[in-house]
Amino acid sequence: MAAIISAEGVGKVFQQRVSQPGILGAIRSFVAPVTRPVHAVADITFSIAAGEAVGYLGPNGAGKSTMIKMLTGILTPSVGEVTVLGRKPQQERVANARDIGVVFGQRTQLWWDLPLSDSFELHRRLYRVPDALFSKNRAALSDMMELTSFIERPVRHLSLGQRMRAEIAMALMHDPKILFLDEPTIGLDVVAKDVVRKFLSRINRERGTTIILTTHDLQDIEEICPRLIMVDEGRLLFDGTLPALRKSFGARRRLTLEFSGDPGEVRLVGARPSGGEGLLREFLLEDDGRSLVQLLAALEASSDVRDVRLHEPSIEEVIRTHYQSKGSAPAPVTGRPAVPA
Ligand SMILES: Nc1ncnc2c1ncn2[C@@H]1O[C@H](COP(=O)(O)OP(=O)(O)OP(=O)(O)O)[C@@H](O)[C@H]1O
Ligand SMILES: [Mg+2]
Repeated sequence: MAAIISAEGVGKVFQQRVSQPGILGAIRSFVAPVTRPVHAVADITFSIAAGEAVGYLGPNGAGKSTMIKMLTGILTPSVGEVTVLGRKPQQERVANARDIGVVFGQRTQLWWDLPLSDSFELHRRLYRVPDALFSKNRAALSDMMELTSFIERPVRHLSLGQRMRAEIAMALMHDPKILFLDEPTIGLDVVAKDVVRKFLSRINRERGTTIILTTHDLQDIEEICPRLIMVDEGRLLFDGTLPALRKSFGARRRLTLEFSGDPGEVRLVGARPSGGEGLLREFLLEDDGRSLVQLLAALEASSDVRDVRLHEPSIEEVIRTHYQSKGSAPAPVTGRPAVPA
């Protein structure tokens, strides 16, 4: 499949002001500011085919938002080249905007004091969405995201979860080929996260919309994105699937079983015992494709499991484990064949 998004050796350097201590320092900083370069993105190369759903993953300050801003035409790369649907996003911002949808989890694009329906109407005009398409999309998306009960309410009265559902729906009103989302699940509770994840998977599956989303949360990747790109300190660490990441980065999921009585030694096919005392037994999952249900079904019928807890490592844990095992910053790992340009 041909690539519709590509980054070739992309880097972005910001000049950040260095503050100097004391009153004299403040005066000096004002008269002759001292800056230092920050390599927010460094030498990133990837390509994404039409219809993919890709998670762009990394801890705070890894360069995720900076990359999304370059892909959406808000920023220009300092080096290298970004191509989206055959265009350079910054040079053809208007044409690019018609073909993409953008959602920033930390900054609303809805009109705060107006009813939600007015924001949709303004979006229709801004993007010159044909009436028939707008009516169809507004009805379908409002239904899928359950917006109808609050569509006439001012945005400032909506909960964060309601607002995020509305943001995503609005970004899709003009039928974009690609949807970029910067931290769409940040700050949402478990239920709201689930609604957003299910919706994004559905849009990707049913409409074939290509999705690129940034996140800190491996659960987002698990549920939406068959592929993930992991970055840290601007650099690419991994490009591949979540099971491949768990395997090569050694950050496996942990399963804790609690029994009603002392279970003695417990064996589970597809999981390695890693501790536990009393009524608890802990295992590291092998990620061999077996589901949790299959794992538990293999337990002896006599064992009396009272509770099951699954612990997904955080992105920080994954990266820490990786650096600890290597002893230094690594060369990028690729877990999948590159998409041909
Ligand atoms: N406009 C800017 N001017 C100067 N430095 C910037 C600017 N934007 C980002 N940076 C710096 O670039 C680095 C990457 O920032 P970026 O916002 O892309 O990270 P991020 O992965 O999105 O982090 P987060 O998870 O916190 O959202 C950080 O060190 C940040 O301070
Ligand atoms: Mg960010």
